Amino acid sequence: MARRKIIAGNWKMNMTPSEAVELVNTLKPLVANEEVDVVFCVPAIDIVPVVEAVKGSNIQVGAENMYFEEKGAYTGEISPNMLVDAGVKYVILGHSERREYFGETNEDINKKMHKAFEHGLVPIMCCGETLEQREQGVTMDFIRQQVKVGFQGITAEQAKEAVIAYEPIWAIGTGKTATTEQAQEVCKAIRACIAEVYDEATAEAIRIQYGGSVNAATAPDLFAQADIDGGLVGGAALKPDFGKIVNYK
Ligand code: G3H
Repeated sequence: MARRKIIAGNWKMNMTPSEAVELVNTLKPLVANEEVDVVFCVPAIDIVPVVEAVKGSNIQVGAENMYFEEKGAYTGEISPNMLVDAGVKYVILGHSERREYFGETNEDINKKMHKAFEHGLVPIMCCGETLEQREQGVTMDFIRQQVKVGFQGITAEQAKEAVIAYEPIWAIGTGKTATTEQAQEVCKAIRACIAEVYDEATAEAIRIQYGGSVNAATAPDLFAQADIDGGLVGGAALKPDFGKIVNYK
């Protein structure tokens, strides 16, 4: 069975609540493509107004992060059930910016993966190598570790519903998209890693996105690759160009 493409915008730390609503209203008609899953992953403070603004459209809302505890004295954090109650369906976990600036480890991300599934949220788990790791030839060792630890204890049935975003760190926000061949090669290897950890059926079902300077020009070739099931888009998700990315065909 063909996997449904999932094209998600990661707004990062951009857009005030009023700007967010304005952006949704601009993008809504441009991303009206029922053939793919369209997700806007927005800053926590924008979730409530964005959920309201996307009503009646094909856009689903995601969060950019969450904590792995249920509630309590964790100042500044957002819990999974807060996201669910607000109308969120997806949650990005382990973005390289969270790993780099906020010290998130593979083990933290694994705890968040469990919590996401427990609450019915679909995780978009990010992985990807630095330029140094690519040059040292350790890209796949590094990513396999991220995937294996990230999915530890997650059942095959849950894994089938998950999304993995392959984002080479050197391609994020740099304007330097990985070549189609580089992106496909790693996404294929990630799928093989899932087959090894689980089985072929799980590997066939799981959706793997590419992220890193995706734009309207590069999206068609990237998304046509056998193992690339869509994209996690940063900068271009804040522009009308996102409509072209969603309608890449
Ligand atoms: O999550 C999205 C990625 O970090 C890609 O960001 O498209 O601005 O390079 P970018």
